[in-house]
Amino acid sequence: MQQVANTILRAVERRLRQATDIDSVEQVRVQYLGRKGSIAKELAKIPALPDDEKPTAGRELNNLKQRVSELIEETRSRLTTEQAGVGPRPDPTMPGLRRPRGTIHPISRTMEEMVDIFRTLGFEAVEGPEVETDWYNFEALNIPADHPARDDWDTFYITDDTLLRPHTSPGQIRVMESRRPPLRIVVPGRCFRRDTEDARHFSMFHQLEGLMVDEGVSFGDLKAVLHIFLRQFFRQELDVRFEPDFFPFTEPSAQVHCTCVICQGKGCQTCSYSGWLELLGCGMVDPNVFEAVGYDAERYTGFAFGMGADRIAMLKHQIPDGRLFFQGDVRFLSQF
Ligand code: DAH
Repeated sequence: MQQVANTILRAVERRLRQATDIDSVEQVRVQYLGRKGSIAKELAKIPALPDDEKPTAGRELNNLKQRVSELIEETRSRLTTEQAGVGPRPDPTMPGLRRPRGTIHPISRTMEEMVDIFRTLGFEAVEGPEVETDWYNFEALNIPADHPARDDWDTFYITDDTLLRPHTSPGQIRVMESRRPPLRIVVPGRCFRRDTEDARHFSMFHQLEGLMVDEGVSFGDLKAVLHIFLRQFFRQELDVRFEPDFFPFTEPSAQVHCTCVICQGKGCQTCSYSGWLELLGCGMVDPNVFEAVGYDAERYTGFAFGMGADRIAMLKHQIPDGRLFFQGDVRFLSQF
């Protein structure tokens, strides 16, 4: 009987090891523990055994029954947890699944670099809303409703009085309204215009605005700050040239050019063979702007500038078509 019991136990063990679902465990239970199962059949043979073998045979078969029940229970609970997704303990030595790592967008990185340089010059970065009001975007910047200068920035309106900001200059007004001089700030941010898209124009783009106000701030300070910034940003010696221009919020105003950073002034396609790159607009804050924010224009002077971060990123990385920045192609973006 001992031998029979061992054979049955081994068979049960083998079947349960191979079991992959609860149904097959149930089959094993019926086959071995059921009323007409193998163990019941062996038990039925006991009355026919010689009297002195009956007790041992009974004990052995009862032990077997006990053991088979335990094995079935263990297997059932193992399969239940596995199927519930809890699974066996993970192997911590297995190599993990790798998730591709994202990178900071080249425009964000460029803006961070720009802000970092201005920080070393004592400028603080502040942000403004992308949906602006007529007051901040135009009126306080000395662009009255009937002024033709509005045309350049008259773009995506949300209501009659609110629009997607076409430049970061309203950031100047927001800061001046809430603080007193002296102040040195930069405003990095996203802007929107109804430009027809090409390699250098986008309906969504980025600017960095700058403003310094104090007693005795001069055009010389503006030149020095921009020159230092450009040299540090492009990591090369370069000349800076100021060409008279017009902006309603600055007087005088200028367009700033610097030595072409691609050809070092020799002339190339990027600079249209002029040796110079047009980079940004700037000037001395117009007294009307100071008046709008309640500053004493007799006491304070200041300079302001605004530059396109996308154009600067294109020059820094020598990207011929800026649309690449915004098409979301990871093959391009993951190179930065
Ligand atoms: N806001 C101007 C633009 O988007 C750029 C600019 C020019 C900003 C001169 C300034 C400035 O602060 O002084 O075209």
